[in-house]
This record gives sequence, structure tokens and C-alpha cells, in this order.
Amino acid sequence: MYRNKISLVFSIAALIATSCASKKSSSTSSHKGLKDYYRSYFPIGVAVGPKDLSGETADFIKKHFNSLTAENAMKMGVIHPAENRYAWRDADSIVNFAHNNGLKVRGHNLCWHEQTAAWMFKDADGKTASRELLLKRLKEHIFSVVKRYEGKIYVWDVVNEAIDDDSTKFLRNSQWYQICGEDFIAKAFEYAHEADPKARLFYNDYNTERPEKMERVYRLMKKLVDAKVPVHGVGLQAHWSIYEPSETELRNTIEKFSSLGLEVQITELDMSVYPWEKERRERKPGESDVLTPELEDKQVEQYSKVFNIFRENKEKITSVTFWNLSDRYTWLDTYPVQGRKNYPLLFDTNLKPKKAYWEVVNFKKK
Ligand code: GLA
Repeated sequence: MYRNKISLVFSIAALIATSCASKKSSSTSSHKGLKDYYRSYFPIGVAVGPKDLSGETADFIKKHFNSLTAENAMKMGVIHPAENRYAWRDADSIVNFAHNNGLKVRGHNLCWHEQTAAWMFKDADGKTASRELLLKRLKEHIFSVVKRYEGKIYVWDVVNEAIDDDSTKFLRNSQWYQICGEDFIAKAFEYAHEADPKARLFYNDYNTERPEKMERVYRLMKKLVDAKVPVHGVGLQAHWSIYEPSETELRNTIEKFSSLGLEVQITELDMSVYPWEKERRERKPGESDVLTPELEDKQVEQYSKVFNIFRENKEKITSVTFWNLSDRYTWLDTYPVQGRKNYPLLFDTNLKPKKAYWEVVNFKKK
């Protein structure tokens, strides 16, 4: 009885909200969000945490995006902190929000050298786990996570960043690699495929447009494809900047991976206003971190360029996801330089569209 009354109140509130919303949409185009301009191209996603899913940011997400990625909640160390314990709450809240609001979900990620709890690599005596034990754990982890969200998560980043940062080397010398050898990559894809045969399975990495990195990722993907490993796509993280990639680099990358019959998704897009400085940890004295008109113009140009290329390649690109909602919070405020403000997204610190936003959505008028 009590429950019924509450749901009646909710239904009336929902009806009022819907009728207001539809009035708004028929009378003003400001109701249109980023995703709506791209309906006939690809879903537009965003990386979120559970805190984003209420209040102002929840409305903002629903307006502009139709796909979600968990920024951290599904990473191995977060979702599987101890051998016999999974922490589902945050990941569930993201999947439920998406499900209730008709958004797709990209699963991120199942196997990575970072953000993995130390127990994973140790046996009961605290010694380095054997190959058999580690693969058994990887399988158990992938089965638990993938099966829990079967039918709700349509694509998984199965392996993240397995290529070495040193351009003269091939695979990263991670604990996965040290203990299992190269095999852990194919195994991770096989386990994920067995757990959910319908899910699309991706390899995800950064700097994939730099020719030396692209060649090495290509080599890995070709090996997997030739060995008939169930891999369906490559995720270009797209942690880019106003200085790179070039048009040619981006076009070549998309071409090259598609030539293997793989889908391409843009999985973690942001456009730093600083050059990529992986090793730099200190802010230089007196350095300004204001978004100057010059920097903003360069950013507009760069966003416009890459979105033109995305649209031209809509048959090959099956999703574009931004890494964080707006310039109010971006992981680039703390990386690679702690405390240096960055402005890498299409929305400003008040969640309002920046110049680059209008450039990205006004393509038909050109
Ligand atoms: C990598 C990972 C992401 C995220 C970013 C930084 O790109 O794939 O999950 O950790 O680094 O936020």
C-alpha cells in the first residue's frame, strides 16, 4: 500500500517531467545534446564515477551522452580487491544508471598492469604466483565480472596497454608477462569470449597514432587475428593534445586496424592543451595554466580536425568516448604534472559548451 502510494507519486512526477521535457524539445534546440548530433554516426560516451550519477551531472550526462565507461569502478584492483571479495557497488550503480536511462556501457577493463591488487600475483606463501595459478585467477576474474553484466555491457576492453613504452621493445615487461609469457593476452580474450560470446572484445592502448607504437600494436593484433583469437576491435585511447596526432597519423591508424577486419573505437578522448610529457612530474615555477585564446583556438582546430576524420570513417569507428565530463574535473589536472590545470574537454568548468563543442556539432552547416 505504502509502496503503491510512493510509486503513484513518482509516476505523476515522471509524467510531468516528460511533458515538460517534450515541450522544451519541441520549442528549443538547446535541448539537443552532443549525442543527438551524432545519432547517425556513432554513440558518444563518457567516463564516469558513481558520484556523477546524481543531480546536475546526471542530467548533463543524459543530455549529451548515450554510452558510459566506468572511469575506475571496473578495474581489477577496485572491483576485485581481495582473493575472495568483489566490490560490485560502484560498477553496479553505473550499469544500472545506464540501463535505466537507455545508455550503452563499455566495460573497462579486464586485464591491465596498473590498478591491479598485489594479491593477484602472490601465492598463499607470499611468493610469486605460478603461471597456472595466475591464469586460473585471471579466468575466474573475467568470468565473474563479464557474466555479472552479460547482456548489459556490449563491449569490453579485455587487455589494456600491453605494448612497451620503449619503442625498441614489443610487449611490456609487466607481471602478467613475466609470469605467464605472451600468452596471457590470447587467454584473456578466450576467457572473455567464453564468458559472454555476444560481447565485442577490444584491445585498448595509448599513443596508437604514433607510427612506432601503431606498428607494434598492429603486430600484436595481426598475431591475434591470425591465431583466430576472439578479438573484435582496437580501442584508440586518444589521450591527445593540441599538438598531436596529425591528420595523416590518425587516418593511417584507422585504416591500418580496419584492414585487419577490426572495429575501431575512440575510448578515452581528451585534448590536452599541453604537449605529452610522460616523464615530467613537476610544475615549472611561474608556469601559467590559463586557457589562453591562442590555446583555445588550437584546441578548436584539433577537435574539428579529428571529428571530421571520425565522421568520414563512420563505417569503421563504432563509438567515441570522452575521458571525463568537463574541464571541472579531468585526470589531467593531476597527471603528468600535479596541480596543473588542464582544459581538455568540450565543456567548461560550469558544464557549459566551449567553442570546440560548437565546432564539433555544427558540421552540417559547413
Ligand atoms: C589509462 C587507462 C584509463 C585511465 C587513464 C587515466 O588510459 O586506460 O583507465 O586510468 O589511463 O585516467
